[in-house]
Amino acid sequence: MRLILAPMEGVIDASMRALLTELGGLDRCVTEFVRVSDRLLPPRVFHRLCPELREGGQTSSGVPVFLQLLGGQAQPMADNAARAAELGAPGIDINFGCPAKTVNRSDGGAILLREPLRVGAIAAAVRRAVPASIPVTAKIRLGFEDRSPFLDNVRALADAGVDELAIHARTRSDGYKPPAWWDEIARAVELVDFPVIANGEIWSPDDSRRARAASHCADLMLGRGVLCRPDLPRLVRATIDGIDAPALRWLDISELLQVFAQQKRLHCAERHAAGPVKQWLGYLRHYYPQAAALFADAKRLTDPEAICAAISAHTPTRTEDHTIAVAA
Ligand SMILES: Cc1cc2nc3c(=O)[nH]c(=O)nc-3n(C[C@H](O)[C@H](O)[C@H](O)COP(=O)(O)O)c2cc1C
Repeated sequence: MRLILAPMEGVIDASMRALLTELGGLDRCVTEFVRVSDRLLPPRVFHRLCPELREGGQTSSGVPVFLQLLGGQAQPMADNAARAAELGAPGIDINFGCPAKTVNRSDGGAILLREPLRVGAIAAAVRRAVPASIPVTAKIRLGFEDRSPFLDNVRALADAGVDELAIHARTRSDGYKPPAWWDEIARAVELVDFPVIANGEIWSPDDSRRARAASHCADLMLGRGVLCRPDLPRLVRATIDGIDAPALRWLDISELLQVFAQQKRLHCAERHAAGPVKQWLGYLRHYYPQAAALFADAKRLTDPEAICAAISAHTPTRTEDHTIAVAA
């Protein structure tokens, strides 16, 4: 089984990837999408979204980071994929799942799922443009308005020669509304002879077991669940291996938050430093009640130092922290 950290634009950047992969259990990350219109982008765009390119395309704990491209025109997608490969990306992922209206209006993301021929043409051009040693993967939803083009898209991607396919088990119309239809993914698994990766609504080790059983996938992609419970990949792996693993306590999480906040304070412009910390807290509060209390105190703060002070105020000392989060 492999566990892949889902790409999340505006949320999972290089510092979050470093922090999450450090905790173990993850086999791969995928960057936020690089938006491709009609031209070859300069290297600095790739380096901004994937600073790991300067470190051999890996996080500090050695987990490879695939570079994700989003766009509707085959040739520019191919040219930019070739550039990403030259810059050292260990794999290229193509985004056919983004539901954002602005992205879909400009001919990118999930809207392309209405045209399996174009999906295939883009993937084939990208596959041809990068060396065979570099995997090309794709990420799709079940469809745009409905699921009717699902298997045509899967076939088109198989014919294009992609190496792997991640499927977020919802249509664009479904948005992020639960459930994720994991059993639909099994239809794609039947059809192709490369790995299919199941994605959507995996919040707990128990969800991971059910998702694998329903989708017939060995591999999973985890997104929001990891932001709520940073040790989810490790716990999922332990569950599948039948091992008991202790969950992170609030003390551990608050220390991670402090590290993250300090990094943002040091490396971001002052007005951008508080946002990512509050955003992460917004996820953590769904699992850790202590994060909800901290979020309530921090949500109006904009000064990075004040955010760090709030985290300290909510960090228990090692002796007082007996709270082990109860695994769902
Ligand atoms: C805030 C946010 C940003 C996202 N950005 C991307 C992205 O850049 N590329 C992509 O392929 N998917 C993106 N996604 C979709 C996720 O990768 C994933 O498919 C989705 O969240 C479902 O998985 P989950 O239930 O484990 O979170 C994003 C999702 C969210 C919530």
